Amino acid sequence: MGRWNNINKVVSGLMVVVVVMMVMCVMEVKSQQQPRRVTALFVFGDSLVDVGNNNFLNTLAKANYFPYGIDFSGGPSGRFSNGLNIIDFVGNMLGVPAGPVYANPTTRGTAILNGVNYASAAGGILDETGRHYGGRFSLNQQVLNFGDTLNQLRTMINETELSRYLAKSIAILVFGSNDYINNYLLPTMYNSSYVYNPQQFGTLLLNNYARQILALYSVGLRKFFIAGVGPLGCIPNQRANVPTGRCADGVNQILGTFNEGLRAMVEQFNKNHPDAMFTYGNTYAVFGDVLNNPAAYAFTVIDRGCCGIGRNQGQITCLPLEAPCPNRNQYAFWDAFHPSQAAAYVFSWRAVNGPPSDSYPINIQQMALL
Ligand SMILES: *[C@@H]1O[C@H](CO)[C@@H](O)[C@H](O)[C@H]1NC(C)=O
Ligand SMILES: *[C@@H]1O[C@H](CO)[C@@H](O)[C@H](O)[C@H]1NC(C)=O
Repeated sequence: MGRWNNINKVVSGLMVVVVVMMVMCVMEVKSQQQPRRVTALFVFGDSLVDVGNNNFLNTLAKANYFPYGIDFSGGPSGRFSNGLNIIDFVGNMLGVPAGPVYANPTTRGTAILNGVNYASAAGGILDETGRHYGGRFSLNQQVLNFGDTLNQLRTMINETELSRYLAKSIAILVFGSNDYINNYLLPTMYNSSYVYNPQQFGTLLLNNYARQILALYSVGLRKFFIAGVGPLGCIPNQRANVPTGRCADGVNQILGTFNEGLRAMVEQFNKNHPDAMFTYGNTYAVFGDVLNNPAAYAFTVIDRGCCGIGRNQGQITCLPLEAPCPNRNQYAFWDAFHPSQAAAYVFSWRAVNGPPSDSYPINIQQMALL
């Protein structure tokens, strides 16, 4: 009983923090006195930006149970966070609701006009990535699902309007983490690390990614924010494999080909398609900064999840009904794999407002104004 009272107190305290954060976001948008220029957000990616697609799939990769959502007004929703996730914050900062869930049968008609979220936990750039969890939408499937949305939009908007609408929309893509942690780094379940060295694997991911980004361009999207992968060697799940509990440096090192290649790809695409804007989100640098300077962000715990079990709370995602840590805004990680709401806010703010070292060559806010 006492424990629950404490949790309730902490929850109400944290709700205040969340509300303050939301108000800050709203002020952000208001203070710049901009008309809303972004027509819609189309979100492709994995659990970092899933807002409930996996609730509709037959998969172990779900987050629609307590304690997920403990700090979210709607409770557990399928977000892999204690509260809001990256796409909620980015949507708030742009003044566009983070689109409805593609897999929800009610996501039809005018409900799709502000965009749609296709992101799916365990999904990757490669179709086989994350298969041991069960159902998920891979990048390829998410692009097909966007085609379905386009067909629905065509029933509501004529072609001239549609091209204008798509050109003013923003596509957010957050992929790659699962291709490492739920594929390349699991040699007992996936053979990719026997078939490819790290450079070859990074190149394989980039080739597939480039093809699908250009497919989205070819059907009319013109503004892209493409996030690189963070320092995956430092997530609690990977630290749990290191005897000292420090970051797995070997894991961080193999990510270089992918991240550097993605940045180079964005440069190349901008050169070849002057009617579009492609931006690279430097996830590695932003989360690296949070982990190197936690005090600057008021984090006191960066090496273990707020919930989960095993070393560093690093073995699995939060267990159903598990009581999480009380001081969640002091944790960089919510569970073994995912940032806390507070860390997601830092990343989102820097993606929307940060300098070119965070979002290259321009940030999401600048892209919205084009
Ligand atoms: C397309 O729709 C817009 C807005 O509804 C309208 O102004 C325009 O005339 C339409 N164009 C054609 C070719 O029907
Ligand atoms: C690796 O696994 C895939 C299925 O995930 C299979 O299609 C392929 O043949 C395997 N390759 C090797 C070299 O074992």
